[in-house]
Amino acid sequence: MKNRQDDDYVKENQFEPLQPAANFAKTAQVNDDSLYREAKKDRLAFWAKMADNLTWNNKWERILDDDNPPYYKWFTNGKLNVSENFLDIHIKNGLGDKKALIFEGEKGDSLALTYKQLLEEVCKFSNVLTKLGIKKGDTITIWMPMIPEAIIAMLGCTRIGAIHSVVFGGFSPEALKDRILDSKSKLVVTADGANRRGKVIPMRSAADQVLDQCPGVEKVVIVNRTGTSYNSKSGRDLSWSELMADADHNFEPVTMDAEDPLFILYSSGTTGKPKGILHTTGGYLVGVKTTFRYVFDHREDDLYWCTADIGWITGHSYIVYGPLSNGSSTFIYEGTPDYPGRDRFWELIEKYQVTVFYTAPTAIRSFMRWGDQYVDMRDLSSLRLLGSVGEPINPEAWLWYHEHIGKGKCPIVDTWWQTETGMIMITPLPGVTPLKPGSASWAFPGIEVDVFDDNGNPTEAGQRGFLVIKSPWPAMLRTLHGDPERFENTYWQQYPGFYFTGDGAWKDQDGYLWIMGRVDDVLNVSGHRIGTMEVESALVEHPSAAEAAVIGKVHEIKGHAITAFVTLKEGYEGSEELVQELKSHVGKKIGAIARPEEIFFTYELPKTRSGKIMRRLLRDIAEQRDLGDVTTLMDPQVVASIKEGYTEK
Ligand code: WTA
Repeated sequence: MKNRQDDDYVKENQFEPLQPAANFAKTAQVNDDSLYREAKKDRLAFWAKMADNLTWNNKWERILDDDNPPYYKWFTNGKLNVSENFLDIHIKNGLGDKKALIFEGEKGDSLALTYKQLLEEVCKFSNVLTKLGIKKGDTITIWMPMIPEAIIAMLGCTRIGAIHSVVFGGFSPEALKDRILDSKSKLVVTADGANRRGKVIPMRSAADQVLDQCPGVEKVVIVNRTGTSYNSKSGRDLSWSELMADADHNFEPVTMDAEDPLFILYSSGTTGKPKGILHTTGGYLVGVKTTFRYVFDHREDDLYWCTADIGWITGHSYIVYGPLSNGSSTFIYEGTPDYPGRDRFWELIEKYQVTVFYTAPTAIRSFMRWGDQYVDMRDLSSLRLLGSVGEPINPEAWLWYHEHIGKGKCPIVDTWWQTETGMIMITPLPGVTPLKPGSASWAFPGIEVDVFDDNGNPTEAGQRGFLVIKSPWPAMLRTLHGDPERFENTYWQQYPGFYFTGDGAWKDQDGYLWIMGRVDDVLNVSGHRIGTMEVESALVEHPSAAEAAVIGKVHEIKGHAITAFVTLKEGYEGSEELVQELKSHVGKKIGAIARPEEIFFTYELPKTRSGKIMRRLLRDIAEQRDLGDVTTLMDPQVVASIKEGYTEK
């Protein structure tokens, strides 16, 4: 099975684009090119019109302030509150009794909150935060399993104007610590534990190792999810349920400026230190509200399920902000697709009658491998639209998804975007775009992208280059928290005036974009970005490791599997125990997701004459390809010896 986007494969298998089905298009939010035309005629007027779909306490003065690039501002001096837009306004418009959030736990427990009930919970948490001294502009960290309290906590922040930094629950306490310290969080919301494949993973007691090293954290609020015990630190640790029981369920939303920070989300970059990507209030909300509505073809009676975790941008934009800003019903599930059985997701779709399903190619490839029988056990006829995100989807997986999950009748929206873009940027519109399996098609209305060559010229059809975004967009990141220089260097230096995505891509004759994945040292493991440097820094922190080089080996299911080459310090011998120790060391430093799949010991790493590690060579060795050009290598012998060691394995 080919598991990566491969242009030769696509060229050999030129699919006839799949036209939107007439019955789907007939009732779709859009079914002609009107949005594209409108946005093309006047891009800013288009976004202003989209912004009018929100309720503003004070209308903005300027749509886009581009006086000081790359520090763009959108909807300047516009005032609004996010949670008011999500909750109070929908309730005023008659959606009070509609289900906002539907949850199922791993053990089968469930909860549904209507818009009215969600508003009450959010107000209560806003009161809790206020009572604990959190004010507009303060940052709090949320480190939680996939449970409704995580969303209530996020929305509670937005109501009082606090900034949330959600840290993926699967990250290690060490990774949590770095993010708490960098964001200067005053309060942490966590849980006693998380349910995972029938086991309980302790969270609060695990966090104990690091909370004492975060002097800025004044309070820790703990949700009782699993009944796991922990040593409570008096004066600091507080129980969610006790605080909420006493809290008032009214809270006046705090008016925010369009450019006030909404959240920080840490994402991997090419250095060891994660980037604190900062999103602001007005533009972000306009971007996610608009894209959710048109890409997922929002309908009043939809039950929408995005399988991402709240700790990633997909969880932010398309579990919480996009669906709730549109008054949709969003479903969340606590567990994994294979527990207690491999039909778990399909069981949930059948039980809740999910209509729109959004997941990642890595998951789709797992479903394919497990076999059709698990899918066939369940009735998936409620589905009407499917989505994909996180990495290129190979045509084979696309076709399987279309046939086995969508039963040939659901369009697939393959959506390209990033933590930095905040919103979907390249995507089909399901009632409009003829689909080519494996291509995310073209830019959303009001978004301008292209593929550039090394010199910043647009490439010809069929020629590979770098994906760039040519003009500012409302949900764009505003900076990297505490590091504007890195913000400028990472995104705006490569092609001055244009946003550099870090992805390779090419256009075909019909103008469809084919994304080839990252061109920098960032891996895509199961749809999640992990910096090679992050893993390398973790490895060399271990006393045995002198130097480390990490590469992503193409992996059938995960996209990339992390492979590490390590040179050892004097006095250390490579052994299976040491391999295990290093793997768990990385797991401890970053989280299980970053644990290398393979570790090889080598006496030296291949380097160029200027001392740069030649990862390309290591990748070729790991994938057992021909080695290509090694003339710039300092010591060509090194490669031969690594290769020998690798093949012996
Ligand atoms: C990759 C996830 C191809 C890409 C929303 C991007 C994709 C990185 C797609 C961002 C897609 C995401 N087709 N590649 N549909 N979606 N990517 O920040 O390499 O976790 O730069 O955001 O994922 O990952 P991030």
